[in-house]
Amino acid sequence: MKTFVYPGSFDPVTNGHVDIIDRASKICDKLIVVVSVNMGKTPAFSMEERLELLRLAVGNNPKVEITSFSGLLVDFMRERNAKTIIKGLRAVSDFEYEMQMALLNRNMDNDIDTLFMMSSINNSFLSSSVVRELAKYGGKIDDFVPAQIADIIYRKFSK
Ligand code: PNS
Repeated sequence: MKTFVYPGSFDPVTNGHVDIIDRASKICDKLIVVVSVNMGKTPAFSMEERLELLRLAVGNNPKVEITSFSGLLVDFMRERNAKTIIKGLRAVSDFEYEMQMALLNRNMDNDIDTLFMMSSINNSFLSSSVVRELAKYGGKIDDFVPAQIADIIYRKFSK
């Protein structure tokens, strides 16, 4: 059974993430999307909110499990007997950080590999931080997040 793990902050999930989830789920038996702690970031959405947005965004894909974990990703991978991390790459600017993470994770566990999937061209400029900023200042986010979560994101920033 080929299990992939897609970790991230998902603060909030965007169409870019959903695209990677859809495409990655087609090339594995099971895809675990794990909302993890990035110590370099202070999230705008709580862990519960991020999980709920992901559930709404992904809908009913029988191959996809959505969960959270605080700790080292390699420990989660071992716990779930998974060997493959999947990450999306938008541009060269993502590369340095993602390479560092991939090498660090492999250094901690030689059995664990990271696969990179290029984002679709129409999502290559998209990020959670762009969505947060647009929502905060009343910009349009409808093209950047799934329709079923746009209002929840607007409401968060209208408080
Ligand atoms: O969406 P992000 O913020 O780029 O995701 C980064 C994330 C959460 C995948 C990364 O910070 C992570 O793997 N956090 C878990 C802790 C860990 O294992 N860190 C890597 C070794 S220091």
